[in-house]
Amino acid sequence: MTAEYKVHGDVAVITLNNPPVNGLGYATRTAITSGLDQANADPAVKAIVITGAGKAFSGGADIKEFGSPKAGAEPNLLSVILALEASAKPTVAAVHSVCMGGGLELALGCSYRIAAPGTNVALPEVKLGLIPGAGGTQRLPRVLGVEVALNMIVSGEPVKSEMLAQIPGQRLFDKMAASPESLAEEALAYARSVADVRPMPLVRNLPCKHPLGDAYFQFARNMVKGMAKNFPAPAKCVDAVEAATKMKFNDGMANELQIFTALMLTPESRALRHLFMAERAASKIADVPEDTPKREIKAVGVIGAGTMGGGIAMNFLNAGVPVTMLEMKQEAVDRGVATIRKNYESQVKRGKLKQDKYDQRMALLKTTLDYGDLKDADLIIEAVFEEMGVKQKVFEKLDEVAKKGAILASNTSTLDVDKIAAFTKRPEDVVGLHFFSPANVMKLLEVVRGKKTAKDVMATVMGAAKKIKKTAVVSGVCDGFIGNRMIEQYSRQAGFLLDEGATPAQVDRAVEKFGFAMGPFRMGDLAGNDIGWAIRKRRATEIADMKYSRTADKLCELGRFGQKTGAGWYDYQAGKRDAIPSELVVKMIEDYRKEQGITPRKISDEEIVQRLVFALVNEGARILEDGIAARASDIDMVYITGYGFPIHRGGPMLYADQVGLFNVVQAMKRFQQNPRDDAKFWEPAPLLAKLAAEGKTFS
Ligand code: NAI
Repeated sequence: MTAEYKVHGDVAVITLNNPPVNGLGYATRTAITSGLDQANADPAVKAIVITGAGKAFSGGADIKEFGSPKAGAEPNLLSVILALEASAKPTVAAVHSVCMGGGLELALGCSYRIAAPGTNVALPEVKLGLIPGAGGTQRLPRVLGVEVALNMIVSGEPVKSEMLAQIPGQRLFDKMAASPESLAEEALAYARSVADVRPMPLVRNLPCKHPLGDAYFQFARNMVKGMAKNFPAPAKCVDAVEAATKMKFNDGMANELQIFTALMLTPESRALRHLFMAERAASKIADVPEDTPKREIKAVGVIGAGTMGGGIAMNFLNAGVPVTMLEMKQEAVDRGVATIRKNYESQVKRGKLKQDKYDQRMALLKTTLDYGDLKDADLIIEAVFEEMGVKQKVFEKLDEVAKKGAILASNTSTLDVDKIAAFTKRPEDVVGLHFFSPANVMKLLEVVRGKKTAKDVMATVMGAAKKIKKTAVVSGVCDGFIGNRMIEQYSRQAGFLLDEGATPAQVDRAVEKFGFAMGPFRMGDLAGNDIGWAIRKRRATEIADMKYSRTADKLCELGRFGQKTGAGWYDYQAGKRDAIPSELVVKMIEDYRKEQGITPRKISDEEIVQRLVFALVNEGARILEDGIAARASDIDMVYITGYGFPIHRGGPMLYADQVGLFNVVQAMKRFQQNPRDDAKFWEPAPLLAKLAAEGKTFS
């Protein structure tokens, strides 16, 4: 059942019951309208209350129905609201906890509204690249005033019911209940008190004006322009609300629907809806059911207090979990702790963290030089040097001291997690937890599942990731896991582009115009060009038969490691991060071209973007084939949360879907004809070739 119908004396109560948040799916909508019919046909009933069971009044559209024909099937939400407005008996929405999106639009269709304190009220459609589509832009300004309503619609952020109830002249809530517990009783009493009032009030009949008229909407448009980079929806919110002040109600509704329908088809909205679903999908592992028992994580150990170790520790301190950080020498401990302090202190200075919270967090941090102090840790994360020999020593030691059932994790970015697990007699307890730098800031966490990692270990670390507010994506074991394995191909293409005639600044500019937070060369300078250099040297034998540009090696031979050495692909002024194009680097590249006998050519921005992004896509397809990622949308999550891929494009795999896989393959075939590029590189991955041939998509 998705809505219950019950009569309490002379009041009928329709209770939405579609867990978790009473989404307004087809069955729920049908149950509401049949409840209304029943109440209107029953002479004993004088008024109708609509409320929600469990944790919400209603969170709006039912995401389980997204994209299915049921989502828009009649009765759709607009018809349900029309039925409410047409009811011969007054309707009272009794809202609590969550009243959002379609849920709020439903409440606005009722004659009256009573709210429990603490209710989160919002129209969050803009976060999916849409505007409200069932009257939200027309009715909310009528009850809250144009400005408050527009702010809510443009931001999508929830506002507490008690705040809204204080707005002078507001008509959103006719009454505030004393508490969530008393809401049901108070709603019944309120319904009885208005049962005989005629005519029944309708939000659609209220006036809608802003005293400044056009001038206000001009101001609002300027405001959203700055914040809505790359997204059309916020400006459309302004248009729709302005229409509410200028058009007759029904015309405003038709206008809203037209805008909503047009936005639904934009690539930006498709990207946001894709990512919304992708985030939920990423937390699920096919063979690890959600009710898998989890191990308890009450204490965490971190080994290594360097760049990553300190940031990793902060995540757990922030979540209130005690951390013991182990190092080899006291100086290293002191340096690590000082960095953590500095980080927190800057947050305190900027008003982002209260002093008492800072003190509480630091009190949870212990340091040690003695492995014995890790004996009580439930989860131990290793973040020492990236050398197998060092990792071996650490994991052998952990096997000796860690308690039974403790999870042993490595933050390695390139090494084989199965090999690391084999250094212990408990490989089922070993997992990769690949954080990204800065580890206390970056959302992404690649959870690397070894061949022997136990299912309850996977369930536990996915839960822990949620607790420390990370977006966890599961990866199989391979060199570079999902993100870095793909970025290697992207970097190789970036190198070929330099060889053929582009400059680092041109490549970065093209990619940044596409929407990346940073182009490959600025990114290299930030992360340190020496990291890739070290990897290439270590893998010299594998790389020997792989085509790649030597420009990055030449740059490192000059000691230009990036921002940390004051020079990389760009020059940097002392203490500043602005990338200044370097004549020396351009000359270095030109000399390399001469050495290789290459005549440079002009390369268009379009070619640059296609070659870099399709390099990601092709490797992404291979990663899917190899079973390293479970779904294309997981790859998109990795790129959006860890690599600065433009959100409005939805990630590399969705972008390829939107371009059309046939077109992607055609472009790759063209690149194969370029003698300066690598024909083998552009051989479409079998999965990509197959999907393109069948006219299918990754998603
Ligand atoms: P780092 O050099 O800044 O820190 C490593 C720390 O480990 C040093 O403080 C060192 O004293 C300590 N250490 C070394 N051997 C130890 C041992 N046997 N026992 C205890 N402490 C020991 O290195 P970073 O950058 O923090 O990297 C650590 C790990 O994280 C590496 O595996 C790296 O590949 C991985 N990683 C690094 C990222 C980055 O952007 N720096 C990103 C993601 C992963």
